[in-house]
Amino acid sequence: MVEVKAPSAGVGQTALFIAWMRQLESERPDALFRDPLAAAMLSALSQDPVLADVAEVIKQTHRSAEGFPAYFAVRTRFFDDEILAAVRGGIRQVVTLAAGVDGRTVRLDLPAGTRWFEVELPEMTEFKDALVAGSGLPVACERRAVAADLREDWPSALRAAGFDPGQPTVWLVEGLLMYLADAVGEALLAGLTDLSAPGSRLMLEHLKAAMLQEEGRPVRERVEEQGAQWLSARDDLEQWLGGHGWQATVYAGDDPRIGHGRTVAPLPACWLATAALTAGER
Ligand SMILES: C[S@@+](CC[C@H](N)C(=O)[O-])C[C@H]1O[C@@H](n2cnc3c(N)ncnc32)[C@H](O)[C@@H]1O
Repeated sequence: MVEVKAPSAGVGQTALFIAWMRQLESERPDALFRDPLAAAMLSALSQDPVLADVAEVIKQTHRSAEGFPAYFAVRTRFFDDEILAAVRGGIRQVVTLAAGVDGRTVRLDLPAGTRWFEVELPEMTEFKDALVAGSGLPVACERRAVAADLREDWPSALRAAGFDPGQPTVWLVEGLLMYLADAVGEALLAGLTDLSAPGSRLMLEHLKAAMLQEEGRPVRERVEEQGAQWLSARDDLEQWLGGHGWQATVYAGDDPRIGHGRTVAPLPACWLATAALTAGER
């Protein structure tokens, strides 16, 4: 049995929270996806006091915003569909920046030869590796964990793990940018663009600017109870990504076109973007 030790308080715990949201979705008869790694996480941590803390945050968030989990279900399914379209279109290299406990490497039906890098802080990487190994779930691709801090020189760590900048890449940046200062987010986007061969795709989530104002306070307070902090939010994703050479289509998190009939709570208000590298960039 592999020992699984929960990451200490702070932004790492937000990953446990999101995985629990995916578990709630997985239990629905009309689930938009089913994530067995989320169930494995809850089982592995069943005796760990951290789960009681996360459960309390879930109770509070559900009180402050009815229909709260729907956003996470819609977000997950949106990126699932975009990633699957990209790999089925021929891309075989995927990179998740801040993968947390995301279960896509075990649950998506990926083409043979897909290599998936998951970049995370060292403590979370150790936790995730132990969780995946201990779960016994078959991995659906060649999964490579990369322990790195995204505020530092993560591109070198990614290259050292075998990332090939000569091949097109699918980048996933989900549940991350709000926890990084604007300048760090800017450097992260410049860094991944620099590593992107023609044909690359970028999937990205960001908070709406209002979430750093009074309107976002109820959810912001729950995030802070977990020891994390929202540092960034913006409403100009199309222009921002465009300025780095990405042609983006951007949806509000509660846009019915991506909602599969679900009513998404107004909080947290986010943007979901899918983008293609424009010719000649990089
Ligand atoms: C809200 S979770 C999202 C995890 C995953 N993307 C998901 O949607 O389930 C935020 C994640 O960002 C990671 N993170 C935060 N700051 C980071 C940094 N500087 N470098 C690498 N990872 C970071 C945390 O460890 C945590 O797993």
